[in-house]
Amino acid sequence: MASNPALGVTVAGAAAMALSCGAAFVSPGVQTSPSLRGVQVTGSASGSASASPSGSGSCAMLGAAGVVTLAASSARKRSGARSAKLVRQQAPTTAAPTTSVAERMKADYSSSLPDCPATVWKADDIDVDNLPVVKETAPLIIDAAELEELKTGSEGEWFVAQRERIMEQLQVHGAIWFRNFESTKDKDGFRAFFESLQLNPCLDPIHTSGLRAMQEKKSAVYEAVNKPSLAGHFVGLHNESTCVKTATYGAFVCFEPASEGGGEFLIADGAKIISDMDKDVLRRVYEDKVRISVSNLDLNFIGALPDGARENTADFFQDLILKAVAPKFDMDLEMVYGADKSNPYRLQAIEHAQSPINRHPVTGVPVWFCNLHNHSRYLRDRRECTVPEVGMTDVYRGDLEHIAYDDVRHINEVCERNIVEMKMKKGDMVLLDNYRVLHGRKTFKGDRNHAVTWFESCGEPKKGDDREKPDDFMNAIINSTI
Ligand SMILES: [Fe+2]
Repeated sequence: MASNPALGVTVAGAAAMALSCGAAFVSPGVQTSPSLRGVQVTGSASGSASASPSGSGSCAMLGAAGVVTLAASSARKRSGARSAKLVRQQAPTTAAPTTSVAERMKADYSSSLPDCPATVWKADDIDVDNLPVVKETAPLIIDAAELEELKTGSEGEWFVAQRERIMEQLQVHGAIWFRNFESTKDKDGFRAFFESLQLNPCLDPIHTSGLRAMQEKKSAVYEAVNKPSLAGHFVGLHNESTCVKTATYGAFVCFEPASEGGGEFLIADGAKIISDMDKDVLRRVYEDKVRISVSNLDLNFIGALPDGARENTADFFQDLILKAVAPKFDMDLEMVYGADKSNPYRLQAIEHAQSPINRHPVTGVPVWFCNLHNHSRYLRDRRECTVPEVGMTDVYRGDLEHIAYDDVRHINEVCERNIVEMKMKKGDMVLLDNYRVLHGRKTFKGDRNHAVTWFESCGEPKKGDDREKPDDFMNAIINSTI
């Protein structure tokens, strides 16, 4: 098994995938297992990454893992080459920590968790015909079983010692898959991991929507869509989130894989997605912009009202719901009747127009920054979806017309081609750059316990944070009813 001696980068999986898909990325000295059929990543670590049923996942994994070997060396050359235009909340810090991990572990985030930061939009004048070549992609794999240092030292010490390198690599690749670590099998160990990296937790960007409950408030750990009611629901690719607020980083951890199978974690590199997309489709959707509808309320009784009362009542409810409910979602919504053309009295909460492409706040690299793969009604209707009609989402053009289905199908195909499927084992973690990399998860059966913590920044924690914090109104309601 070959590995990067400093970071324990596993490359056997890369070679296996390269062989299965006939690509050129093969590292010198890599050994491959004859049992591999291009759908597993193995090595001395025994984890696996299964391919999607269509087989597209294996080639996506090839592209991702294959680049690992190249990027690990190129990352060393680029030290000190950071952009002068650092965005404080996004840029990994190189400053030596002044607060120890033990001190950071004492913090109780229950009442001090800051709001998710505002989205950094740099979406103007992107030349879709001249996008930069994506040389390194996600994920980088760091395998504890390959780390010589861990044979004598502790994982905690290793995370602290490698903090800068890990954060540099995260910026290069967009996501890092940590495999075979022991200390991260419980919440305290998981927290020690992110505190070692000086990652500063924040609220989930959709905290007020209540779509995700917190597992442990004092450690800022959210459950990652494990509810039995949503087990049969496929979560498509999305950033967390886009329009108004965006977490800078996210760390996902597996405490228990799904007991009866499924539940694989999915990621895709947003830079790679736009690089692979047909430029006419990309230009069209970029110029048209997108609007995401997040809920449907069918106020059919309005249609039965007498002439004269109908319009006033419709206006009344439009205004009432906008003022009473929309602020709880904190998503910059507009209430629109009949946008999906199914019912003139369907009141939909729709985000304002936004670009589907954004530039990364630190690197400036254009990325697919759009949740169409998750939210498109056309796609949801064609895959496992258990969301009730009231919560069914959709994605429109900026002018609220439907996006051409040919374009939706193409975007879907490119997204799925870039999905890397991760069969996480207990203690495995995926650290991701939430601007660069989108995530999702497959359906599952049985019990599953994955969790996630979101971060606003990396470095010394901010002090005296007086930003307004959203309340738990919708979060409490929805999590007690779904
Ligand atoms: Fe998510």
